[in-house]
Amino acid sequence: MTQIIDGKKISAAFREKIAEAVSLLKTEYSFKAGLAVILVGDDPASDVYVRNKGIASKKAGMSSLEYRLSDDTTEQELIALIEKLNHDDTVDGILVQSPVPEHINYQSIVNVINPDKDVDGFHPKNAGNLLIGSDSLVACTPLGCSILLKYILGEDLSGKDAIVIGRSTIVGKPMAMLLLQQNCTVTIAHSRTQNLAEKCATADIVIAAVGRPEMVKGDWIKQGATVIDVGINRIGTTESGKAKLVGDVAFDEASENAGAITPVPGGVGPMTIACLMYNTLKAACNRRKIEIPDIFSDFI
Ligand code: GUN
Repeated sequence: MTQIIDGKKISAAFREKIAEAVSLLKTEYSFKAGLAVILVGDDPASDVYVRNKGIASKKAGMSSLEYRLSDDTTEQELIALIEKLNHDDTVDGILVQSPVPEHINYQSIVNVINPDKDVDGFHPKNAGNLLIGSDSLVACTPLGCSILLKYILGEDLSGKDAIVIGRSTIVGKPMAMLLLQQNCTVTIAHSRTQNLAEKCATADIVIAAVGRPEMVKGDWIKQGATVIDVGINRIGTTESGKAKLVGDVAFDEASENAGAITPVPGGVGPMTIACLMYNTLKAACNRRKIEIPDIFSDFI
């Protein structure tokens, strides 16, 4: 029987643990963790993501600041806001939603965020620490995928063959580093990879993060493999007028071979937001040199 990995349910349990920890820290140390989210422009998908991040912060008991800037905001104006937030002691996490308008260089902006408040894990200091195996704030989507893998496969992934399809800075590269840390043998595939179907067909773990609707076919999946689908692709609308979402994996076909698979929606997406809450909690504790309450031992 193929296990459908219920990201909604798993993330709800995770968020509950985070909320308990936030509340404990309020009582014991009298501080409230806080997240600031900046959106530049009016990309409709980003608008929804930013709103959901604000709602999740409040539900976790954190303070939430939202900055919505017009799409003609200059890099200098954005940098000035980030510097203000870097110095604001009530702010533990700072996130600039991507994409940003074309006249702004996203990485230059990320580089200005205090790495201790970089809850996206995109600052070179955090990305570099992940690479060398030091503690860091880890990008939320790959962190969420790792938690799902632990939930399904247990702690020990040693020796498993994993393929990460996609080499983005946000997902593919940090995901590969996390799998390597877990002693997997990791292949990073991308648009120039040859014989992708065959490479995929030998993998115990498949992480699809390419942004191409249903690109990974059912016969690419080894019998019993664990399939994590990071894709969120909008293709047309449903009868009720809502955007129809599909992942990077042809779900119905792949389910016939996979041992476990994430659906879209309801798989990785909810875990990403939960991990953002976790990173904000972690940043809040690190900044005050407080040990992070144990969230994982009775959750996973
Ligand atoms: N846009 C899509 N995913 C992300 C994310 O994880 N963080 C930010 N800042 N922007 C995104």
